[in-house]
Amino acid sequence: MLFFLDSAKLDEIEYAIKRWKIDGITTNPRHLANAKMKVEQFIEKIKPLVENTNISVSIEVNPHLNDAESMIEEAQRIASMCENFVIKIPATEAGFEALSVLSKKGVKVNVTLVFNVVQALQAARLGAYYISPFVGWKEERGDYDVDFISNVVRAVKNYGFKSKILIAAVRSARHFTEAALAGADIITASFEVYKRSFENPYSSLGLDIFKDSWDQIQK
Ligand code: E4P
Repeated sequence: MLFFLDSAKLDEIEYAIKRWKIDGITTNPRHLANAKMKVEQFIEKIKPLVENTNISVSIEVNPHLNDAESMIEEAQRIASMCENFVIKIPATEAGFEALSVLSKKGVKVNVTLVFNVVQALQAARLGAYYISPFVGWKEERGDYDVDFISNVVRAVKNYGFKSKILIAAVRSARHFTEAALAGADIITASFEVYKRSFENPYSSLGLDIFKDSWDQIQK
């Protein structure tokens, strides 16, 4: 399973690449706003960091675009800037239309804002490179579906589609477990979620016990 960082903050991205060997980056307009950067500024900064690496960077088209033609034009423009860029297109009727054209042109598309199996299957049928089911957004609104991740993964894998399932809006270590057990290809989570999940109070407790034992023998 690949681990992606969900952030547009360059200090977090640099840290995660260097210290955690992160496999990719995902951004969205909210992350850009949090990093106080326009998409062009972000592109200018991220490109030198990932060029000549295998680190993919998902960048979303302007969310105000609501017709396929404008999405296609913007997606092609961004994709042409760097080989590592994967273009996020929303799971809407116009988005799917854009996806069908872009995938034939060889543009890598991350279908974002996926909330059900039908959207995931349509994305797979039309050649999505990544499919991003948003797990946390459903849960935060009281819509917890214990089978959501596994249903999406099983439905897409059942038919041998090549699209990779990228579990998004991950909020806890439990989501990692659900994604991994379901056989999802990738997970993307925030800097804080990784920090919290890489550590565990029992690991710290165990370390204290070992330090104590170590010190006893040194006396
Ligand atoms: C990832 O590609 C998504 O944009 C993301 O997981 C959504 O995350 P957010 O809830 O932090 O905006």
